[in-house]
Amino acid sequence: MSQSDKPYKLKDITLPSNAVWHTCTVSAAQRAELLQQMPRCIWLTGLSGSGKSTVANALDSALHSNGIKSYLLDGDNVRHGLNKDLGMTENDRAENIRRVGEVAKLMVDAGLVVICAFISPYRRDRQMVRSMFDHGQFVEAYLDTPLSVCEGRDPKGLYKKARAGVIKQFTGISDPYERPEHPEVTLDTSKLCVNDCVKDIFSTLVQ
Ligand code: ADX
Repeated sequence: MSQSDKPYKLKDITLPSNAVWHTCTVSAAQRAELLQQMPRCIWLTGLSGSGKSTVANALDSALHSNGIKSYLLDGDNVRHGLNKDLGMTENDRAENIRRVGEVAKLMVDAGLVVICAFISPYRRDRQMVRSMFDHGQFVEAYLDTPLSVCEGRDPKGLYKKARAGVIKQFTGISDPYERPEHPEVTLDTSKLCVNDCVKDIFSTLVQ
């Protein structure tokens, strides 16, 4: 049984019994038309140190320079605010990804191109987010950088702590990372420079 097949429990989520969906007069299509762009969620997944934040930031800048209204949701930053109550257990990571997916969905509904940079180690969680979007709206970019390279970079000194046992459940060391099976883009940042990664993602957007 893979990690993704295991049952897990999200934080208690109960829909208020009196909550009724209210349909907005302005549609998502009208919002996108006003902004003159195709809203999307570009999801960067990969190990810590694989280059997600760097590529995501460069992509955000490139989109911005091209007049595309974008926004970047980065794992470390989101965990300082919206998700600061969550840890790194399998359940908390699932809840982290669920919440981010919902936020990204709202932003796509508002007409933006949203870039999400999260380890998102479980296939099931990434699939859950993908299923929130219309076909073609979700672009999964897998940063397939070898663990040895990520560990060699160790930009935050976390791999060292994980190897020393100071950080438990560290992705790639003491916690799993499930590779995407059919990502829209695969990038190995040990072989590609940041600009080439951005170009590769860009080219999938115009297909
Ligand atoms: S995810 O697994 O839930 O998608 P997320 O992308 O939000 O993770 O946060 C990852 C960041 O948390 C890493 O960049 C790293 O700075 C920090 N971190 C702290 N503990 C861990 C851990 N056990 N495993 C991986 N990253 C960790």
